[in-house]
Amino acid sequence: MEEFASRSYLALALWADEAAFEGAAAFLYKQTEEEREHMMKFIKFVLEAGGSPRISDYGEPLPKPKSFKELFEIGLKHEKAVTKSIHAIAEMAWKGKDMATFNFLQWFIAEQVEEEDTFQTILDKIKLIEEHGGSLYMLDRELGKKVEK
Ligand SMILES: [Fe+2]
Ligand SMILES: [Fe+2]
Repeated sequence: MEEFASRSYLALALWADEAAFEGAAAFLYKQTEEEREHMMKFIKFVLEAGGSPRISDYGEPLPKPKSFKELFEIGLKHEKAVTKSIHAIAEMAWKGKDMATFNFLQWFIAEQVEEEDTFQTILDKIKLIEEHGGSLYMLDRELGKKVEK
């Protein structure tokens, strides 16, 4: 799933890049790299634990979005599926008293909270712009900058 996420974010980055959404493209190119790192973490852990990782065919990447908003809806939906999957492995590890795997998965459990929040926050901001217009969004950003200084 991490490999699939990496490939899917690359496909989405290309869509964004071609549509001249340079910010979204940069964000997604970065996500592509991060997901690959996640994949490598899993592979290395399985190797260290004495297992034999296999690379399977996870099929075509996620479909192209029809809009900027749908791009992030697709991303959030995928992140939620990853979270569910990681929680399922953690539950299996716990029930099977495999504490090494259970401990290894804690990083991913925390990471998924962040991942879902990232995509959700972007969608919330799109909703804010849809409901109140871009100028209110800009004003809110200005207020945030005043505190940062
Ligand atoms: Fe990931
Ligand atoms: Fe992710």
